[in-house]
Amino acid sequence: MAEIIIVPSEEAAGALVADEIVRLIRARPDVVLGLATGSTPVPVYEALRPRLEGVDVSRVRGFALDEYVGIDPAHPESYRSVIAREVVEPLGLTPGLVHTPNGSMDGIEHAGEDYEAAIEEAGGIDLQILGIGTSGHIGFNEPGSSFASLTRVKTLLEQTREDNARFFDSIDDVPVHCITQGLGTILRARHLVLLAFGEGKADAVAGAVEGPVTSSLPGSAIQLHPHATVVVDEAAASRL
Ligand code: GLP
Repeated sequence: MAEIIIVPSEEAAGALVADEIVRLIRARPDVVLGLATGSTPVPVYEALRPRLEGVDVSRVRGFALDEYVGIDPAHPESYRSVIAREVVEPLGLTPGLVHTPNGSMDGIEHAGEDYEAAIEEAGGIDLQILGIGTSGHIGFNEPGSSFASLTRVKTLLEQTREDNARFFDSIDDVPVHCITQGLGTILRARHLVLLAFGEGKADAVAGAVEGPVTSSLPGSAIQLHPHATVVVDEAAASRL
């Protein structure tokens, strides 16, 4: 059973999770963070910025959850660019220590295995930040994903492409495929922190936290984890 924390605002959620991350970095300067993209984790990254002033972050390591396949890595909406812009640069992390899955077509056949090997070599992820999609996906593990899955290429649901079209000029520009850490990869992290805000996430949150553990709602995998924390605002908690 995940621990549920209902907070009054996104800022309060950001502060709460940022405090925990700072505590981890102070305890172990080469901590391994699992990073998420999308709008949900932004308050965490914003809250981290002032808190990390004067803290040595030069050895902090990071692994993003997912990436689009076939997108130019320099495209402003590739997750590599997003993580650089929202996390690595503002927080002063060492770019070479923060990884995203390789979504370029060149070498895509072994990109999943390579990413798993890199996570393993780093000693595993200490704290994994998660958002949840309206389809209940975590990372880009859409409904039907196996709980044992590792990093691999997947096809995005039309719903997810529509949700993410706001970041692109049009839906036609949203890639069709992605490479994502699997549910099995995510479950290996030592601490999962799932955040969700707004009424649009209420059904996904209720299903993930209280519904049956089922691959129809990938977020429900967190119920299998011994240390999962769910941080939600009132609206996202409204169907609990
Ligand atoms: C995206 C990402 C997920 C994210 C989710 C929710 O497509 N791949 O990692 O958690 O969908 O996005 P948002 O936080 O913008 O609502």
